[in-house]
Amino acid sequence: MKGLVLSGGKGTRLYPLTYTRAKQLIPVANKPILIRVIEAIRDAGITEIGIVTGDTAPEIQEAVGDGSRWGAQVTYIPQEAPLGLAHAVKISRDFIGDDRFVMFLGDNVIQGGISPLIADFAHHPEWNSQIVLTTVEHPEQYGVAELTPDGRIARLIEKPKQPPSNLALVGIYMFDHHIFQATEEIKPSFRGELEITDAIQWLIDHGYSVFPHIHKGWWIDTGRPDDMLTANSLVLDELRPEILGTVDASSLVDSRVTVERGAEIINSVVRGPAIIGENTRIVNSYVGPFTSVYHDVVIENSEIERSIVLEHSIIRDLPTRLHDSLIGRHAVVGVSGVRPKAIKIHLGDYSRLELI
Ligand code: G1P
Repeated sequence: MKGLVLSGGKGTRLYPLTYTRAKQLIPVANKPILIRVIEAIRDAGITEIGIVTGDTAPEIQEAVGDGSRWGAQVTYIPQEAPLGLAHAVKISRDFIGDDRFVMFLGDNVIQGGISPLIADFAHHPEWNSQIVLTTVEHPEQYGVAELTPDGRIARLIEKPKQPPSNLALVGIYMFDHHIFQATEEIKPSFRGELEITDAIQWLIDHGYSVFPHIHKGWWIDTGRPDDMLTANSLVLDELRPEILGTVDASSLVDSRVTVERGAEIINSVVRGPAIIGENTRIVNSYVGPFTSVYHDVVIENSEIERSIVLEHSIIRDLPTRLHDSLIGRHAVVGVSGVRPKAIKIHLGDYSRLELI
C-alpha cells in the first residue's frame, strides 16, 4: 500500500498564522501536524508516501525533505490550484499506479493512529474502499454519511444543509484504483471543487464496495484556532513526559510535563500536561495545563494557560494571565513601561486581540 497526504490548502480560517506558514506545519504538542500524519502512516507499515502540495510547497518540502528522517520515502505532487480532494487524487495517478492506498488530510489529528484501519483494509482485498466516520456536533460542516439499518452506507453528502445523521467523514480514506475512474466521472460541486465525497458516492452508485469504519476516539480537523487548541490539549494529554532540559531548585514542575533539550525552567511553576520546547526559557512564570511552548521562546514574569506559543517569541511582564491563545513566531507580548500608559499593538491582518 501507499500513502497520500494532502497538504495543499491555504488555511484561510487560521489567518494570520497561516499567512506566513503552511497550516499543516503548525505544531501541536511541539510537533507539526503534518509530521504526526507521516508518522501515523509509517507506524501502520506504509513508507511510500506522496504529498500533494499547493502554494506552500517550498515550505513543506523544506520541513519534510525526502522523508527519511521519519523512515519514509516522500514524493511531492504539485497541485496547480485547490480544486478539491478528488482532484488531488486524480493528479496522483502516476504516483499510486495500481496500488491500494490510504489518503490522509494533512491537517487532521486522530487518536490511536491508523494501524488497525490499514490492517482491516489489507485483510479485505475485495473491498474497493473504506471510509472513516465519527459522530460530530456540527455535521453540516463536513461530508456526512447516511447508513442503512444494517450499517452499510446508503449515501454520502458534502456539507448538507439538513444532515441526515451526525456521522461525519473523517479525513482518512482507503481506496483501490477504481477511485481514479470516479474522479474522472464526477463534476465540480457548488464550491467549484471535485469532492472526494462525490467520488465515493460514484463508487457506491456503480456497485463497488465501500465499507464504513466508525471511529470511537477523538478526531480533530484543525481548520480553526479553537480546533488547534483542542487538538493541542488532546495530544498533550497523551504525551509521555520527559525532562531533558534543566529545572532549578526553586521551580515546581508537574509529573505530566515535557521539558525538551536545552530548555530552562527558572523559579517557575509548570503544571501539566504541558511541553516546553528546546532552548526555551521560563523565568519567574507560571505555565498552566494544556500549553505548548515551542523552541527558543522566552516567558518571563508572566502566566499562561491552554495556549500555543510558536518559536522565537517573547512574553514578558504580563499583568494578566494569557489563556486560550495562539501566539505566532517572533511575536513580542509584554509591558514596555514607557509612558503614556496605553496599549500599543502591531497586529497582523486578521489578528485577534481580546482584552477584558
Ligand atoms: C473535507 C471533506 C469532508 C470531510 C472533511 C474532514 O472538508 O470534503 O467531506 O468531512 O474534509 O476534515 P474540507 O476540509 O475540505 O471542508
